[in-house]
Amino acid sequence: MCGIVGYIGKQKASPILINGLLRLEYRGYDSAGIATIEENKINIMKVKGRVKNLYNLDGIDNLKGTIGIAHTRWATHGIPSTQNAHPHSDNSKEFAVVHNGIIENYNDLKTFLTEKGYKFYSQTDTEIIPNLVHYYYQKEDKDDDLKVLRAVKNACADLKGSYAIELVTSHAPNKMIVVRKDSPLVIGKGDGENYISSDIPAILSFTKDFYLIDDNEFAVLTRDAVEFYNNKLEKINKKVESIQWSATSAEKDGYDDYMLKEIHEQPNAIRETIGSRLPEDGPCYFEDLNFTKEYLDSINKIYIVACGTAMHAGLVGKNILEKLCKIQTEVDIASEFRYRDPLINTQTLCIFISQSGETADTIAALKLAKQKGATTLAITNVIGSSITREADYSIYTHAGPEIAVASTKAYTSQVVLISILAIYFAELLESVDTKIIKNLKTEILKLPAKIEETIKVDKQIQEFSRKVFQEKDIFFLGRGIDCTVAQEGSLKLKEISYIHSEAYAAGELKHGPIALIEKGITVIGIITDPQLVEKSVSNIQEVITRGAKTLIITNQDLPQNHFDTIIKIPEVNYLLSPVISVVPLQLLSYYISKEKGLDVDKPRNLAKSVTVE
Ligand code: G6P
Repeated sequence: MCGIVGYIGKQKASPILINGLLRLEYRGYDSAGIATIEENKINIMKVKGRVKNLYNLDGIDNLKGTIGIAHTRWATHGIPSTQNAHPHSDNSKEFAVVHNGIIENYNDLKTFLTEKGYKFYSQTDTEIIPNLVHYYYQKEDKDDDLKVLRAVKNACADLKGSYAIELVTSHAPNKMIVVRKDSPLVIGKGDGENYISSDIPAILSFTKDFYLIDDNEFAVLTRDAVEFYNNKLEKINKKVESIQWSATSAEKDGYDDYMLKEIHEQPNAIRETIGSRLPEDGPCYFEDLNFTKEYLDSINKIYIVACGTAMHAGLVGKNILEKLCKIQTEVDIASEFRYRDPLINTQTLCIFISQSGETADTIAALKLAKQKGATTLAITNVIGSSITREADYSIYTHAGPEIAVASTKAYTSQVVLISILAIYFAELLESVDTKIIKNLKTEILKLPAKIEETIKVDKQIQEFSRKVFQEKDIFFLGRGIDCTVAQEGSLKLKEISYIHSEAYAAGELKHGPIALIEKGITVIGIITDPQLVEKSVSNIQEVITRGAKTLIITNQDLPQNHFDTIIKIPEVNYLLSPVISVVPLQLLSYYISKEKGLDVDKPRNLAKSVTVE
């Protein structure tokens, strides 16, 4: 959702900026633009649609500037159009900005600026920013090095909402200014050149050294230096963080799509998630956690809060935490949790799961939990992401960059990490028989090999997808932990194939959804919990009787002649089965999307990282 790139150095900026934007395409966007500075003049070029359309613009090759800002826009205020695309400039074209986030009081500010004689040419909230900076710049009477920065700071003081802003100005053509509040932004450190991005993968091929800028902090970039200031414009120091991801890990590597690559990366991603957290002799170990038995004994509730696929990983986590730790665990959608005054206090542990660590609702929910005195723990994939800077504790999935909008390896690695966390708690609490713990640990270590085995169902799934890709509705059923996977399978299908789909607890079928079952409809059943096999089979039988075609994902021995298609997956402790049973469902949505000729990695209307409410 909206991407930012910036460059300041010795090289021509425009190819670097466009290249960076191309790497941010996965975030979801509808228009793009760049601005470079040359001989004290700002040149802005923007297009509706794909980043590559920028190459077709007259004069794009002639941009010689070595400083520039760039943006992919995902429309919030105003339709997707060239006019509304960023960068935006002030009326006199002295300042140009790109902006991620939402300025909530933009109407008031627009009225204020209009009264002062400013004109607006777009429908965006962003356009007020360069004009407001211009307004404050005019009012500055002191002409020193910090003049532009003071104007930016004063403008930011008027803004309500969230923002990551990148600014260039003809008044300081060798500098760039950035500021952030509740919207991601990192600064990449090069040699005689520096980079800016909303997302690490966009500039990973240029540098692995990053500065992480916090809320309400400003950075002034020149070719050779980056200076940081707090919101009183006092200088602050930042240390460089090195990121381990390789640039090629953010590329397709021979696969047709990122999603397929990421499905295949799951065994390795999970090996990384496990890392050294499951030592052969001795309890689970988390370098960054120091929970005690006394603390865990004192908590009476765990909340898991997240959005989308991460929330589905949380549903699996609830099952495992309750089973192993005997602590009541609730799962909530972040956008609901934050507005319903949840019952939490100092005896609540709140776990926030977010692949990107930048989801606006999840971060807001975390802030609320902190205010209410809960202990907060973030599970994320991105080191230094906003969520990690808010949470009391952070643990990382180490799954490598996930580029496809539809999340795959992030989900499985989140489930694995929360399973290890549950074992870590259970060991401290001594809440479950050590044999059960031992068995689970052995099973977790076998997961990567079992996923490799599961991916071999690829051809079978591809064949099935050819039969169903034109369907209008597909249902997913499961009981217990299988129901959580049904929900994830259904979400994946909706996201990238645009087929309407519902997931239900199989036992709930008779209370409504069975009315929708008619001849020829496709129902997908997930059956892995040995204690619930018979009950699940009975529910599937009910839809077969009403003419449904069935696909069953199972690791149990089921009668072959009952179902249209059975996909057999490796056996595993049922608590961990989602890590395996989700794989055929990921492949199914992938192949259906391909059959329909859709853009798998960049589904319509969706964004990878939802940084606004
Ligand atoms: C968006 C993405 C999903 C993701 C969700 C939560 O909807 O398209 O793939 O699961 O946000 O994102 P997070 O980064 O917080 O896990």
